[in-house]
Amino acid sequence: MNIDWQNLEFEYTETQYVVRSSYKDGRWQEPYATRDKYMQIHVCAAVFQYGQEAFEGLKAFRGADGKVRVFRWRDNAERMNRSCEALYMPKVPDELFEKAVFLSLEKNIDYLPPYETGATLYFRPIIIGTSAKIGVGPATEYEFLMVATPIGRYFKSGFGTTPFILNRHVDRAAPNGTGPYKVGGNYASAFRATVPAHEAGCGCMFVDPKYHRYIDECGAANFFGVLHQKGKPTDDMSSYTYVTPRSRSILPSITNNSLMTLSRDLGIRVEQRRIEVRELSDFTECACCGTASVISPIGSVVDPDRNVTYRFPSKPGPVCTKLYNTLLDIQYGRSYDRYGWCVVI
Ligand code: PLP
Ligand code: COI
Repeated sequence: MNIDWQNLEFEYTETQYVVRSSYKDGRWQEPYATRDKYMQIHVCAAVFQYGQEAFEGLKAFRGADGKVRVFRWRDNAERMNRSCEALYMPKVPDELFEKAVFLSLEKNIDYLPPYETGATLYFRPIIIGTSAKIGVGPATEYEFLMVATPIGRYFKSGFGTTPFILNRHVDRAAPNGTGPYKVGGNYASAFRATVPAHEAGCGCMFVDPKYHRYIDECGAANFFGVLHQKGKPTDDMSSYTYVTPRSRSILPSITNNSLMTLSRDLGIRVEQRRIEVRELSDFTECACCGTASVISPIGSVVDPDRNVTYRFPSKPGPVCTKLYNTLLDIQYGRSYDRYGWCVVI
């Protein structure tokens, strides 16, 4: 094994084991670890036609004290179950999800990146409908998989700034559709917007699918902007407001939820509300946030339909920096985890 931890990107690196569990006759079987990364699956499996698939993403960190911390796995398990319900798939019991995460961690422990490399071990829980279907309807058999892989930065610039392009022509989900669920179809249907944006070296910002007027989210991450009270010192956190979209078509991000909590603790006011695109000109800094992207500050947003470019500082601002350090200090065990977000091993 020869991994260049510092230069990992957000891509799959082969690890040793995948953990699997099958759902048959109305119940989940005991999870097991296998080295086999291929699975035999019927050509007519429900996932291939009617898209019964959901996934998650969570991380384990090697801490400053040498211990391993798994961040907020219960929240991912809960969200996965909401996705399962939305697609008529059986829920994955918390005990099964927990066993799968920790068995996968134990079996792939050599792939947990060392402290201070900037890399982490990323878990990708996946559920798919496996029984053969032609009639339109849900499967009766399912497979739950826990994949682990070491990952590095999501955007090339890491905690540097990334330019974004605003998109009003492709909706990643319908107004009352699957936007709040982490289902594969949302991502595939957004490729025609995200791929061209990435090819231009940018992230893709989506607006709400009903009015095409409010900011929704940033590709595979949530959005937040920062307002600063004029005349107040920039190092006084109580002079800032953290603003993030309230929308029924975005994924409720666990990172965003953590950042809202940490913001309140730091004395930053938090607003969760609809954000008009033109409000971008009010923000002193803004960023996208998620498990993969952590906090990725936004350098500019081009709105091609209105021929406007919103520009932000070329370096991460004081609020992004404070929140980034506060979150990572908890994840790496450098500060007290008062909410019990990490399971420490
Ligand atoms: N929005 C979308 C569409 C995502 O895919 C993700 C990633 O999981 C997020 C937001 C961020 O969510 P979280 O912070 O729970 O990773
Ligand atoms: C994550 O942040 O964990 C995600 O799953 C987003 C991913 C699709 C890039």
